[in-house]
Amino acid sequence: MSTHIGAEPGQIAKTVLFPGDPLRAKFIAENFLDDVVQYNTVRNMFGYTGKYKGHLISVQGSGMGIPSLSIYATELIKFYGVQTIIRVGTAGGMREDVKIGDVILGQGSTTDSAVTANTFGAGIYYAPLSNFELLDSAYHVAQEMNVPVRVGNIFAADRFYNDEIDMKKLADYGCVATEMESAGLFLIGAKYNIKTLSILTCSDNLVTGEAASAKEREQSFTDMMKVSLETGIRA
Ligand code: HPA
Repeated sequence: MSTHIGAEPGQIAKTVLFPGDPLRAKFIAENFLDDVVQYNTVRNMFGYTGKYKGHLISVQGSGMGIPSLSIYATELIKFYGVQTIIRVGTAGGMREDVKIGDVILGQGSTTDSAVTANTFGAGIYYAPLSNFELLDSAYHVAQEMNVPVRVGNIFAADRFYNDEIDMKKLADYGCVATEMESAGLFLIGAKYNIKTLSILTCSDNLVTGEAASAKEREQSFTDMMKVSLETGIRA
């Protein structure tokens, strides 16, 4: 086992879906996968391996924010040889035209987190990007499934609650949605030369104040999961 994951070597698939919420990992495993084995309960950050259409795939909770996600992503790669990590999660729409339930593919991720500056030093403003092959694959999978998707820049905020950041300016410069993880995932993907992508659904809109109803959450979650699982098994 690694420090935070109690799996034996070989128990985790090469491709991992990575929701923030460990209970969502449980839900995905129970509702979308066959022959499921739970490999992690450490800190209740549940992890499961199962089969989707006959292909092995794992689902691991990441926790919220770049610090938590970075622990699990690094251990998945270094100790278990994971080669593809697809974050599945929710995000807040930053523009009026990002509607509740929209599925968003993260092409890159802007951040106010210090992880990029701490990696490269003063004066370098690194641009964390998702893997193009994975992005291209997810985009085409979504088209095949008739799931409309947006592709764009995700603002990964260090704080869920902040009044200081000019979200409108970020939106004016092309950021479509905000969450708290993508930049950290893409940075780690680049560091270890593995494939990473974020597939998100819009759960609330910062401009209009709208939030998803239970029904909208369920439908958009299902769309996101179908695209993510199909992309995952093709990776
Ligand atoms: N901000 C940050 N993270 C989020 C949001 C948000 O508005 N919505 C879903 N995850």
